[in-house]
Amino acid sequence: MPKISDDSDLRIIVRDVRKRFVLRHTHSLKESFIALLRRKKLTTTFDALHDIDFEIREGESVALLGFNGSGKSTMLKLISGVLRPDQGQVLTRGRVAGLIEVGAGFHPDLSGRENIYLNASILGMSRSEVDERFDDIVEFSEIRDFIDTEVKHYSSGMFVRLAFAVAIHCTLDIMLVDEILSVGDEPFQRKCLAKIRELQTQGKTMVVVSHDLDTVARLCDRGILIDRGRVAFDGPSAEAVAAMRASRS
Ligand SMILES: Nc1ncnc2c1ncn2[C@@H]1O[C@H](COP(=O)(O)OP(=O)(O)OP(=O)(O)O)[C@@H](O)[C@H]1O
Ligand SMILES: [Mg+2]
Repeated sequence: MPKISDDSDLRIIVRDVRKRFVLRHTHSLKESFIALLRRKKLTTTFDALHDIDFEIREGESVALLGFNGSGKSTMLKLISGVLRPDQGQVLTRGRVAGLIEVGAGFHPDLSGRENIYLNASILGMSRSEVDERFDDIVEFSEIRDFIDTEVKHYSSGMFVRLAFAVAIHCTLDIMLVDEILSVGDEPFQRKCLAKIRELQTQGKTMVVVSHDLDTVARLCDRGILIDRGRVAFDGPSAEAVAAMRASRS
């Protein structure tokens, strides 16, 4: 992925971005054949994001807001490099650590312990770095008793705990957080929020997606509201939340 020059204080640049998905309407060769005979379309395209432009500076905390299906997770995947835009550019500077999809980067048949090493290496940590932080990661996740159990037997909350614990113990400059605040139980959510605040005071850059509007408004200075794949508002987070509530009330 292209990088931003070292002398800039910009961490993320999103320029004229479009992400297009192809929707298939047939699911077998037979269906495709029938559709062709009937001159029906086999696929249509759908722009999940279009004309997206914004920049995020070092140390900013930005809430990405929007209703279900508006394109928030797709945007985070573009920033993390999991997806590529069909048009435009997404540039980042520094190490990006993301909690984007629950379970991404985890292998179900491996234990929690093995997955910590696997996931941390995906996030760019060496084995010795993980060795050093292993106890802190397990401590934060509070699942020590299950650390040698295969993660396919974990509850969704346990999964998120482990994923969040690994991500925050990695050396990172940009943290992307999608919906973790809604999966963990209340004490864990509080702990995550405290950790996010600590990373903020260290000057890390954050992009947070959550449907808990009041919490993100408090956590982030800035809010970008996405409505059906377009930026509908970009400004102070409280105003972004108000704009979102006003749009469908
Ligand atoms: N791989 C894909 N193939 C086809 N369509 C997709 C794909 N990924 C996402 N989409 C579509 O793109 C749109 C935006 O999805 P996205 O997951 O970014 O929404 P979201 O804002 O994160 O929603 P939610 O609040 O429900 O998490 C949706 O209509 C979704 O169906
Ligand atoms: Mg989403």
